[in-house]
Amino acid sequence: MVLSFLLQTTLTTLKDTEKFAQKLAACLKAGDCLALQGSLGAGKTTLARALLRALGVSEDVPSPTFSLAQHYDTNLGLAVHFDFYRIKDKRELEELGFDEALSDSLVLIEWPACAQSFLPKQTLWITMRMIGKTRHVTLQSADHTWENRLREAL
Ligand SMILES: Nc1ncnc2c1ncn2[C@@H]1O[C@H](COP(=O)(O)OP(=O)(O)OP(=O)(O)O)[C@@H](O)[C@H]1O
Ligand SMILES: [Mg+2]
Repeated sequence: MVLSFLLQTTLTTLKDTEKFAQKLAACLKAGDCLALQGSLGAGKTTLARALLRALGVSEDVPSPTFSLAQHYDTNLGLAVHFDFYRIKDKRELEELGFDEALSDSLVLIEWPACAQSFLPKQTLWITMRMIGKTRHVTLQSADHTWENRLREAL
């Protein structure tokens, strides 16, 4: 799968993450799949939480590290926040309800690399790198329609 570079930005404070999430959230729709990559502490959960907040979620948004899937009601309908750190095969994804989530929900995935071959082509890959206190964020996808959607939103 060839990913095209779409956009790069830097987030230095939590406020920056919130603002970025608000703009990104404005162009999301049910069925979108966002893969949040980055090493330990890169800010994946923080960004997912800010996106869910921007979509009207007011309840607690914990890391899905232990539950592996957290479900939320959002302004776009259902959203599912997954952690694929320990996923090894398609059957495990099915057990977590991944296909079902993709069919009608917004899907946010931390540690997506283990399940990379099972993710849809339309997945928006968000890579976070921490350099000093700043998070460098890169957005990529194999689906070109993201280009217009993001250009208008960000
Ligand atoms: N843009 C930011 N500015 C300042 N601090 C941030 C930012 N993003 C995340 N942090 C802080 O970095 C820490 C780790 O963030 P977070 O838990 O979101 O990382 P993660 O990538 O989900 O980690 P894990 O690999 O454990 O899942 C938290 O204390 C969070 O508040
Ligand atoms: Mg996390």
